[in-house]
Amino acid sequence: MDEKPRVYVTRELPERALEKIDAECSMEVNPHDRALTRGELEKAVQNIDGLLCLLTDNIDEKLLELNPDLKVIANYAVGYDNIDVSACTERGIPVTNTPGVLTETTADLTWALLMAVARRVVEADRFTRAGHFEEWGPMLMLGQEVNGSTLGVIGLGRIGRAVARRAAAGFDMEVKYFDHSRNKNFENKYGLKKSSLEEILQASDFITLHVPLTPETEGMIGEKELKMMKKTACLINTSRGAVIDEKALLQAIRDDEIAGAGLDVYEDEPKLTPGLERESKIVILPHIGSASVKARTKMGLMAAENLLAGLKGEEIPNIVNPEALS
Ligand code: DGY
Repeated sequence: MDEKPRVYVTRELPERALEKIDAECSMEVNPHDRALTRGELEKAVQNIDGLLCLLTDNIDEKLLELNPDLKVIANYAVGYDNIDVSACTERGIPVTNTPGVLTETTADLTWALLMAVARRVVEADRFTRAGHFEEWGPMLMLGQEVNGSTLGVIGLGRIGRAVARRAAAGFDMEVKYFDHSRNKNFENKYGLKKSSLEEILQASDFITLHVPLTPETEGMIGEKELKMMKKTACLINTSRGAVIDEKALLQAIRDDEIAGAGLDVYEDEPKLTPGLERESKIVILPHIGSASVKARTKMGLMAAENLLAGLKGEEIPNIVNPEALS
């Protein structure tokens, strides 16, 4: 009888995903309720056929060198900037991600952040809890109007489109987008306007980022870009932290160059640029864009399917580097 493939899962996942893998593999799961240390990851990656990892695991060339027989790497995320994909491709290792299943969930969270920043929800909650609500006041906690305002979407991929759709269909917003490619059907259906980055920065009341982290997008919103934004504008980021120069953002908030920001992701996650946590105009969340039971279960099942297909040499549903197999 053939031996079962050996698999390591770098963090406890929703049960159904683990059951799926366990049925066909000899599976080991990180026993700790935390990410693996580098040393633990280096140990875990040896003597396995497949790795199911998270965005918190840095899969670089040095790690790959520890196991020349690794057959597949399944990332439990749609983003895969934690993996040196070209090093995997050189070694013929397919890398997979989990697109689609977290789109609507992340778009919902983007909107939760946008509304929270615009209407000062977190600040108002703290104020009320602290017993400061003594009477209704005409000037109490005034924020930015969302309905009918202008939204700038940077990156019109799946999540960018889901955010834009909510804006156009639900909030009567004018939606401008910046992306290298064009999606005319979507544009026409929701009345979107393709714009330059400059135009978006200058004209939008809310700007939301939905680009992957690449050398091109790293630091794309810095001091210069923040200065171009309206003083009443709010910046929302549920993509990857390093797309924004966090120090420049903090300074822009302190100097009242923009009205607020909503962050789910950070430049040096999970560390925050010191001072960020003290700004009431910034709402900060712990990278929970896809954190619904439904989305996380679907992500797990999808990652498991990708992993199993890679191990069996079958067509891999969500491979990001098909050239690895040619
Ligand atoms: C991803 O999938 O890339 C998110 O950041 C976490 O779900």
